[in-house]
Amino acid sequence: MTQTIDQPKHEQTTTEQPTTASPTSEPMTEANVSRPLEPQPRAIIIGASSGIGAALVHELAHKGYRVAALARREAELNRLCEAVNAALGSKRIYAYPHDVTDYETIPALFEQVTYELGGLDLVIYVAGVQPAVTLGEYNFEKDADMIRVNLLGAMAWLNEAAMRFERAGAGHIVGISSIAGDRGRSGAPGYNTSKAGFNTYLEALRNRLSRHGVTVTTIKPGFVDTVLLKNAPKTFWVISPETAAQQIHRAIRRKRQVAYVPARWRLVSLVINLIPSFIFRRMSI
Ligand SMILES: NC(=O)c1ccc[n+]([C@@H]2O[C@H](COP(=O)([O-])OP(=O)(O)OC[C@H]3O[C@@H](n4cnc5c(N)ncnc54)[C@H](OP(=O)(O)O)[C@@H]3O)[C@@H](O)[C@H]2O)c1
Repeated sequence: MTQTIDQPKHEQTTTEQPTTASPTSEPMTEANVSRPLEPQPRAIIIGASSGIGAALVHELAHKGYRVAALARREAELNRLCEAVNAALGSKRIYAYPHDVTDYETIPALFEQVTYELGGLDLVIYVAGVQPAVTLGEYNFEKDADMIRVNLLGAMAWLNEAAMRFERAGAGHIVGISSIAGDRGRSGAPGYNTSKAGFNTYLEALRNRLSRHGVTVTTIKPGFVDTVLLKNAPKTFWVISPETAAQQIHRAIRRKRQVAYVPARWRLVSLVINLIPSFIFRRMSI
């Protein structure tokens, strides 16, 4: 768990907000009224309406976090919030309908969410798309969509987090990338590129921010049983979103730089990266 991050006054532009959002000055909500003596870390999860993101909402809420859950599908978000809040018996999850390609809305929304959470400790960017792409298909619209959601949306959100966490000297940024970003494959050029770009962006953020006390974690899942998986070229060693969320949470607790989920994918990736290009291009992996 990261330290509490407060929001500096000079960043507040959209609403009347307190100078800091420390545990003593945060807005009184049902969550902190009902359990006033427990530390309540605050997290934003972008891409929280289904799959890995929804499982992370469950996982973090049950570990004591207050969570802002963002995605486009409002009905799914509301259902998730109601279910988790009812199971916990207190309001810990807050829904914010949002499309990550509405880039210009992100700075103000970031401020609003941080204020309403009462501060911020953790930001997890999960949102991703992988449309079906057949071998021999070259579809710019699909490629552009993957870059817009998987990479540009991530940069828009995580730049905001990085700026604030750097000033605060604490905080944790997590990106849900993929093993698919480790090498360019014939089956998914656009998706591979979006995740390779995300990996490089996260590494660069880590190199900038580690000297300021900020942790940046790159998560590389293998195959996880979600709707997105139906468009993946080949699948094996499939795990549930709940198992993935538990392992991601463990990597967050341990402040890992890069974590494969499950861990055995690290070895697979190592081997795949060692295969020379002239052999790799003849293989159908
Ligand atoms: N499943 C796997 O095997 C696997 C493996 C490696 C990596 N990953 C990565 O894990 C992440 C989560 O995927 P998943 O498998 O859990 O699939 P999923 O159930 O389809 O989840 C994708 C999430 O991204 C959100 N999203 C998509 N476009 C968005 C947009 N324009 N604005 C805001 N949110 C958007 C979706 O919400 P809305 O549709 O409601 O907006 C949804 O909450 C993705 O980044 C994916 O690349 C998955």
